[in-house]
Amino acid sequence: MIRLSNGESVEFLTGSGALGFDGRGWWWEYPLRWLGLLDPHGFTIVVKTLTLRPRKGNLRWYAPWRCVRLIPGGTLNAVGLTNPGIEWWIRVCYPRMQRMRLQTIVSVYADSVGEAEQLARLLAPLRITAVELNASCPNVPHDSAVPHVVGIAQALQQAGHPLIVKVGYDQPYVEIAQALEGVAEAIHAINAVPWRLVFPDTPSPLAHLGGGAVSGAPIRRFVREAVAQLRRATRLPIIAGGGICTLHDIEELWALGARAFSIGVLFLRAPWLPNRLVRQWRQRTTVSSSVM
Ligand SMILES: Cc1cc2nc3c(=O)[nH]c(=O)nc-3n(C[C@H](O)[C@H](O)[C@H](O)COP(=O)(O)O)c2cc1C
Repeated sequence: MIRLSNGESVEFLTGSGALGFDGRGWWWEYPLRWLGLLDPHGFTIVVKTLTLRPRKGNLRWYAPWRCVRLIPGGTLNAVGLTNPGIEWWIRVCYPRMQRMRLQTIVSVYADSVGEAEQLARLLAPLRITAVELNASCPNVPHDSAVPHVVGIAQALQQAGHPLIVKVGYDQPYVEIAQALEGVAEAIHAINAVPWRLVFPDTPSPLAHLGGGAVSGAPIRRFVREAVAQLRRATRLPIIAGGGICTLHDIEELWALGARAFSIGVLFLRAPWLPNRLVRQWRQRTTVSSSVM
């Protein structure tokens, strides 16, 4: 569990995008929610990444397979930050999430410090748990230089909410984390990993959209490496995500030093499992602390 400066704690988060823009999930998950098999209240909801202005990206609601493919153990996506913009979210989704009493983290992406400052002004009055800077979207060209990421993070800090920064395997994530000490309250590792790094010898089925990025079981080894490196190099608390499907995954990441966990494509592949996993982990930790 990670305690934030506003007194809130996070332990299990949804990966940004896993339960859509408002924590209710995607339309095909609604029946599971109605049946109580998927309960968003078991998680801190990280909403799908928002930008200052609406972005078309590659996702078309009538044909999601255009940019999202199932692959063995995971997914490949080239969504590319499709979203209706922060003001839409504040108007439509935020009140709903408040009514549902969902612990909410707003994930944002900004191209420039100026954009980040405008986002910060819009986010400041909201009652949210934290802001997450998506510094690592693998499907849009972005600047990963340390000073650029730190500049955007400092601008977002002005919103007055705890700040989490989500990094990618293809970035200088250790240097970014070190430079963010005193700015961010946690580092989230890692975003989906570009196809070319996971399967260097195989052409991507989404080559026409830039190759896309892989989530789920195929990126487990990348996450473990990133968490181990971060633990050695920074004092920032670590949220680990990428390929979490079993209790064993959580135990391994805990042993490597992560203190909170995010679950993404498991919601897509087996939406009834994430809540079960959280329950199992909590039962296990309650039993072990009562034995001590
Ligand atoms: C279809 C899809 C959309 C995603 N959208 C976002 C996003 O908007 N912002 C973000 O930070 N991560 C996004 N991600 C990455 C996930 O939040 C997560 O970091 C990644 O999938 C690794 O975790 P997992 O293996 O548990 O899914 C997306 C992943 C998928 C598969």
